[in-house]
Amino acid sequence: MTEAKGLARGLTNYGDKDFAIYLRRSFARSMGLSREMLQKPAVGVAMTPSGFNNCHRAMPELVEAVSRGVLAAGALPRPFPTTSLGEVFLNPTSMVYRNLMSMDTEEMIRAQPMDSVVLIGGCDKTVPAQLMGAASADVPAIQLVTGPMSTGRHRGERLGACTDCRRFWGRFRAEEIDREEIDAVEGRLAATTGTCAVMGTASTMAVIAEVLGMSLPGSSAIPAVHADRLVAAEASGTAAVNLIANPIRPSQITTEKSIENALRVLMAVSGSTNAVIHLAAVAGRRGLTISGQRLNEISDETPVLVDLKPVGRGYMEDFHAAGGVGGVLRELRDFLHLDTIDIQGHTLEERLSQPLEWVDRSVIRSFDDPVSPIGGLISVSGNIAPDGAIFKRAAATPELFETEGRAVVFDSLEDLANRIDDPGLDVTREDILVLRNAGPVAAGMPEAGYLPIPKKLALQGVKDIVRISDTRMSGTAFGAIVLHIAPEAAVGGPLAAVRSGDRVRLSVRDKRIDLLVSDEEIARRMAEWTAPVAPTRGYRALYSRTVGQASDGCDLDFLRHDDLVGGSYGANSTKETSQ
Ligand code: FES
Repeated sequence: MTEAKGLARGLTNYGDKDFAIYLRRSFARSMGLSREMLQKPAVGVAMTPSGFNNCHRAMPELVEAVSRGVLAAGALPRPFPTTSLGEVFLNPTSMVYRNLMSMDTEEMIRAQPMDSVVLIGGCDKTVPAQLMGAASADVPAIQLVTGPMSTGRHRGERLGACTDCRRFWGRFRAEEIDREEIDAVEGRLAATTGTCAVMGTASTMAVIAEVLGMSLPGSSAIPAVHADRLVAAEASGTAAVNLIANPIRPSQITTEKSIENALRVLMAVSGSTNAVIHLAAVAGRRGLTISGQRLNEISDETPVLVDLKPVGRGYMEDFHAAGGVGGVLRELRDFLHLDTIDIQGHTLEERLSQPLEWVDRSVIRSFDDPVSPIGGLISVSGNIAPDGAIFKRAAATPELFETEGRAVVFDSLEDLANRIDDPGLDVTREDILVLRNAGPVAAGMPEAGYLPIPKKLALQGVKDIVRISDTRMSGTAFGAIVLHIAPEAAVGGPLAAVRSGDRVRLSVRDKRIDLLVSDEEIARRMAEWTAPVAPTRGYRALYSRTVGQASDGCDLDFLRHDDLVGGSYGANSTKETSQ
């Protein structure tokens, strides 16, 4: 029996199949669709416009362009809404709602009659959520991103969200610029629609979607306002129709090899720390995990090739003009799995056999002349982080790589907010700031790991200091910052045992973060520890009961693939993964 296509798929269950199709057609006609259109295969277009999501402002144009491509290729486009997550509009943090959006996306793909789907996202958590949902639904799917913002100008200087937001805010806190100037900058940081203008989380995930093979080649970095962004949308619609006759499913694309290719490119573009969590979550939907050991091997052998903020100089618009992902892939060719396929069924080898018109070597360096000979991110572990943590060495001050200092502990986000600028805070530039109870279970893991430099140190001109926490930081942030410590303090991780005045040691060379307190003393302190009170109702209760640690992608345990045997990016982890 041939599988039903288009609106005849997945009928509503009334116990009478013929009635179900009759009723569906009848209701579909009320949308002004002819019988001829109703008989065509259907392409879902997952759209995410929202008055609370500036990064998706151009969504109507993109939906129109995708639909144009679908119609021209002979299918029926069916746009449908899902959750939309605008990074700066969500409390306590968008991270809590990534999994909700992924569930929404998965279930709406599965529940509604579509033969393939184009997923349009952009802002930080939306693309991970869509990739996770698509990986679980396993219907042929294409990721289209909204594209990065173009830069603004301030007194002759280019500005882009949001590395420059932090830079100017730091200058304002240090009283280098006045209120009038910071107010002027506020209106110039996010000058157009689109996602943050640097290699932050949104851009990193867009790049990863392309490297995985889930987006059309060359599409990830096209600026949001560029006409080519709409051309890519139209082409995505056409490709989604082609997927109906030649189905390629996310399970064929999201493989150990493509995940490893994505990790490799993540290092070469010096991408966001958040991408490690998101990639682990996407991998987890297909039963795959990422080990800290493998992450470090890839990092140590992969040079940073891209000179973009927050680590370097350029913006995403420069990256696109310089050759984009294709330019990076060609430099990494010898290290990539070339037999991975994309949603058009082309192997990476076929893609890379095509010549690239031009590469701007001031933005995308050659393998032999890198920005840095090693990758931007490493996994660190130690007695304070038995299941690992992440350190972005490319964005940190090298003089702080080997630091032993006195811990200055903040017990919660509230404690941090209350005391960080207290002139009486006992802190020096040699200390290590510790933030805990900000992890996935405790607080949904907000981007608070970029602890502000205490005001008294900022006024002394201190620009960086070692900071460690069980939470995340924005992909656009920078500093000597250890993030994602697992297990988090709220589930009894040893981070809960640290006291102000203890000695802590960070060694980037040894990839370790350690509390210099005896095991016996740590055990004694933990015996006195009590777990914080968890939410008791609604999604927040479900989230805190079932969310995994950063090393597992912070996915809800019941959403991960049945075959998953567990995993961690902790360097000491024995739970092995993508090799
Ligand atoms: Fe949407 Fe930065 S706020 S990508």
